[in-house]
Amino acid sequence: MVVQFGKCRLEIVQGDITQQKVDAIVNAANSALAGGGGVDGALHRAAGPTLMNETRALYPEGCPTGSAVATTAGRLNAKYVFHTVGPVWKGGTSGEPDQLASCYQTCLELAREHSCQSVAFPAVSTGVYGYPIDLAASSSLKIVRRFLIDHQTPELVRFVLFGEGAYGAFARVLESMTE
Ligand code: APR
Repeated sequence: MVVQFGKCRLEIVQGDITQQKVDAIVNAANSALAGGGGVDGALHRAAGPTLMNETRALYPEGCPTGSAVATTAGRLNAKYVFHTVGPVWKGGTSGEPDQLASCYQTCLELAREHSCQSVAFPAVSTGVYGYPIDLAASSSLKIVRRFLIDHQTPELVRFVLFGEGAYGAFARVLESMTE
């Protein structure tokens, strides 16, 4: 499903984020940038050791929740990986919505700084970190839509959702944005 905001395209697809051919792929990392399972494990495996070598050398103190840091992309079909750290879901009253929005905002600012015209995001925080998928879909799409309308860059933002449930949740929110 695709929605156009001016000259920018916001797209949702069901698939594997490691297979995307875009300027930047976003990783759902942890604050130690220590690697893990889910998206993090899959991206490190597909990219090779470059990601870990660079995060260790460039960001030895890790990355705070709600922020993001950039590395090159090793063997992935991308120029950069933006490692963002989503909030752990604690019921929604500990600042999780703002922190999740800040992940997307920071990644889109990194895309602008690095002249990236296409960015692929996973549904940050909705796996190990337990963020309810419907709430994540709503917050994530809202902040990305706002950024695209305000800045008219990057040309393409693609959410790569891992299963039918996640795709359905994002599709329902995106549909409501076109009404
Ligand atoms: N492609 C696209 N989406 C994926 C893939 C993949 N290859 N693998 C998993 N997902 C989906 C999950 O189904 C979930 O909806 O990405 C979403 C995010 O899940 P996680 O990767 O678990 O990320 P998160 O919830 O942000 O937790 C981060 O998990 O792996 C550790 O080191 C990581 O500690 C950090 C934590």
